[in-house]
Amino acid sequence: MSTSSLDARYAAAMDKLKTFGQEHALKFYDELNDDQKDKLLSQIESLDFSPTQYINNREALPGRGVITPIESMEISEIKKREAELHQIGIDAIKAGKVGAVLLAGGMGTRLGSDNPKCMYNIGLTKPVYIMQRLFENTMDVVKEAGEYIPFFIMTSDKNNDVTIKFMEENNYFGYDKSKIFFFKQDMAPATDYDGKVYMEAKDTIASSPNGNGGWFSSMGKAGLIDKLHELGIEWLNCFAVDNVLQRIADPTFIGATIAGAYDCGAKVVRKAAPDEKVGCMCLEDGRPSIVEYYEMTEELMSAKDAKGEPAYNFGVILNYLFKEEQLEKIINEKLMLHIVEKKISYMAEDGSMVKPESPNGYKFEELILDMVHEMRTCVPFEVEREREFAPIKNKTGVDSVESARELCKKCGIEL
Ligand code: UTP
Repeated sequence: MSTSSLDARYAAAMDKLKTFGQEHALKFYDELNDDQKDKLLSQIESLDFSPTQYINNREALPGRGVITPIESMEISEIKKREAELHQIGIDAIKAGKVGAVLLAGGMGTRLGSDNPKCMYNIGLTKPVYIMQRLFENTMDVVKEAGEYIPFFIMTSDKNNDVTIKFMEENNYFGYDKSKIFFFKQDMAPATDYDGKVYMEAKDTIASSPNGNGGWFSSMGKAGLIDKLHELGIEWLNCFAVDNVLQRIADPTFIGATIAGAYDCGAKVVRKAAPDEKVGCMCLEDGRPSIVEYYEMTEELMSAKDAKGEPAYNFGVILNYLFKEEQLEKIINEKLMLHIVEKKISYMAEDGSMVKPESPNGYKFEELILDMVHEMRTCVPFEVEREREFAPIKNKTGVDSVESARELCKKCGIEL
């Protein structure tokens, strides 16, 4: 690395930062050695600072369209067509057309473990790791189809190495290692309340994973779209790390999406109450979409369909099936930007590290649920909550290790 190449990169980095009023990120540059300079410049080159401009200019972000109800495929209908749909799904898996994508790049801050969430042990009499549950569930389908499903795992800079080591140490939970592919998601800068990026060290801008919405473009950056083509994958089932009951590559779900010629399917559960805190399937300006629980107005909550049922009655559980061809068409679309208030550790003026007790700034995320809106059609596919939805977000209480253990026990899973 020559000094002149560093100088050229410094000039380009400064230009990029100036565009977004973030020049202070290079404040300590002259104090750094060449390796540190290279590290900081590489980070500036890779980060997208454009979201920071919206902190004091939120009106510039696009608003919501007109929300109307969407028809769901309910359990009663699914049961009637079960055999037919299941077979279509199994045939697609056997033909190698289905891949699984585990979104495991999150920080899992609510669970409060130092390790990645997938390493959390929910066992009581023996170790049962969250990741293990996901592979056990996948193996049910692999056994039936007689075919390993290519399994893609998204991590982030913050948890990639430790996740890979954990998988190696556990012998990939008995899965065919040649069918597992890791890729890293992008990071986003973290800012104070004025939209200025925090520094984590003199050579590092504070950053965090940029949400679970960038997974397909991150697959592209990792060269994995070529792999999808090589393997002949036409459908990708994406899911969260923390639902220990979810069915992965569920043949009936895949069959329903394929049979209806949809671009996408979304597993949904019937809402427990109109104000339950889950994102709800709907149409937005005529296209499939998800309205977040905090966006639900009184009017939407009390609206009824032709059968007299609540019109917005089905919540998403972060298990989607996307048509790969359609994903490639929207790969460069910007999704809605979510500005989230969070606690951000940073380096103070005197060089000491500050770990705040309460939120002190913003992180920026794109979410997979907004990807559904980029699809032309989507089938909300109802599943039984008690059998398929046991998310682990917290240590205790709602959506916790405790509640997930109870649900696992009810489903006959030994812990
Ligand atoms: P959550 O919304 O639960 O976020 O992610 P989180 O970061 O894991 O947890 P908290 O909010 O800090 O407690 C839902 C799913 O999306 C993945 C998570 O790993 C989880 O599977 N995710 C989230 C990513 O892959 N990348 C991200 O940047 C954020």
